[in-house]
Amino acid sequence: MFSRREVFTEHFLPRDLPGRGTQLNELSDVLEPAAEGEPAESCWMIGSSGAGKTSTARYLLEELSVDYGIGFALVECVGASRWELLRDIAAEHPSVPQHNGMGTTQLLTELDDVESEPFVVVLDEFDGLEVPEVLVDLTNIEGISLICIGHDKAEAIASIPNAVKGLRHAPEIWFEPYSVPSMMEILRARVDTGLQPGVIDDDQLERIADEVAGSARYGVQSLRSAVELGEERGHTSVTDEDVGDSFDHAKARIREQLLASLSRQHHIVYRVIREAGEEGLRPAEIMERYRERSDNPRGRQAVVKYRRKLQRYDLVACDGDGSSRWDHWWAVDDQLKAPLRGRRVA
Ligand SMILES: Nc1ncnc2c1ncn2[C@@H]1O[C@H](COP(=O)(O)OP(=O)(O)OP(=O)(O)O)[C@@H](O)[C@H]1O
Ligand SMILES: [Mg+2]
Repeated sequence: MFSRREVFTEHFLPRDLPGRGTQLNELSDVLEPAAEGEPAESCWMIGSSGAGKTSTARYLLEELSVDYGIGFALVECVGASRWELLRDIAAEHPSVPQHNGMGTTQLLTELDDVESEPFVVVLDEFDGLEVPEVLVDLTNIEGISLICIGHDKAEAIASIPNAVKGLRHAPEIWFEPYSVPSMMEILRARVDTGLQPGVIDDDQLERIADEVAGSARYGVQSLRSAVELGEERGHTSVTDEDVGDSFDHAKARIREQLLASLSRQHHIVYRVIREAGEEGLRPAEIMERYRERSDNPRGRQAVVKYRRKLQRYDLVACDGDGSSRWDHWWAVDDQLKAPLRGRRVA
């Protein structure tokens, strides 16, 4: 069975982003002033995992950068320090002189010295931001507008320092889960480009589109798994059994990818929970064991945040609503180990 792997990566985005026309229009409206050389408003992009938030932001900003020369930086907040975020933002700014070894103060001065030219900073995974003071830094710089991407706006707003003006009331662009027809378009674009005709039929695609609850990540990875399982099993085309088995397979890979994308501190919390086995741990026990294991332990609130992130990524689960100190927490897949090194050394 012939397939081109790159169609299963996140950079494969079909023209016009199926199902995201409304969000693209809303975001273009927000960023319109930047196309005329004026600073744009900030905004929120909110929705569940796999709903296309990062893809939509990247897609539109790449287009605006080509068509209007608008500069942008897309940075991931999870586990990043204030200096790392400012460094990554400055590195993308066309008017900031690039040299190594700049400290936080110098980075801020350089960014501030730029003549109020519009520049868009996308703060992706906003709920993983551990250094809210960077919001004060960024909102004080003329010309910068922020696009804050997250899952839960109320939670995100609660973490904004009082000194930050405007952001709380910035407009919100909402990403509902993809409809089945939109998911079909997303999958078809990949099938048409990357698979030989007849490898998978429409009924099978529809089964995937129906199953994945509006998450494009889950949809694309299920399609990939169905094809890979078919290949492994020596089938000439994908069978219904391959499709049936693709979902668990895809979920396991997504969990692994999401876990790898988290910070070292998240990994320690995950490891502590996984090692406790199926009996699970209460929040106080997690905290205690985390403190013993981390060489640079964060406070209780940070650990609650790490746990919530792990839960949102379906890496850990609990027997209550997640807010009680009596809940027990366990790893969803006890075979999945945390990587030895975090994406960032936090
Ligand atoms: N409209 C779309 N068309 C084609 N592919 C898409 C579309 N939306 C998302 N995808 C694909 O689905 C995957 C997940 O999308 P994305 O990363 O944008 O989701 P997200 O909302 O940012 O999720 P998370 O909150 O977990 O970060 C990516 O691989 C992306 O390529
Ligand atoms: Mg994302």
